[in-house]
Amino acid sequence: MPGFEDLRKLTYTMQVIQEGMRLYPPGFAIGRQPIAEDEILGVKIPTNAIMFISIAAMHRDPRYWERPKDFYPEHFSPEQEKERPRLAYMPFGAGPRMCIGNHFALMEMQLLLALLVRQFDFEAVEGHPIVPEPLITLKPKFGILMKVKERKVELA
Ligand code: HEM
Repeated sequence: MPGFEDLRKLTYTMQVIQEGMRLYPPGFAIGRQPIAEDEILGVKIPTNAIMFISIAAMHRDPRYWERPKDFYPEHFSPEQEKERPRLAYMPFGAGPRMCIGNHFALMEMQLLLALLVRQFDFEAVEGHPIVPEPLITLKPKFGILMKVKERKVELA
């Protein structure tokens, strides 16, 4: 049974979670309103302009990802992570307003995923459309249908 002390050892589980949030970041964009006039890469930004930063677009930018459209957890191998600018991946935002629940969320996902794949096999139901719907967070428009089969494992 995976527990808190196993988290550091579940490195590939973490890569799978990170890759999932790269392709489908739950917080797919964040908004900012500048308190003063600014300029970014030659573009003038007026005071109070409504700005959106697309996390989803950065997460698929071919400049930063070897296989941008594929599910490829090796994007998060220590070697590949070293090569990438830090903010090319920011599922929890960045800076002073960064998510305060990020460590909690990651811990929860890691433990749950490890527990679930140990006890069950998951298979996507063929033909069911998986359509991302960008609401406040990114959701699957028609849900995700899976066949779930119990595995025979002894949990210590
Ligand atoms: C996979 C799970 C989660 C994702 C992807 C996520 C994503 C984000 C993102 C992108 C932001 C930045 C918003 C911005 O910059 O405008 C944010 C902020 C925030 N998140 Fe999360 N979050 C997650 C889980 C959680 C959890 C579990 C908690 C609480 C226990 C939490 C609490 C917050 C709070 C309070 C803020 C606002 C911080 C501030 O404005 O100073 N989040 N989150």
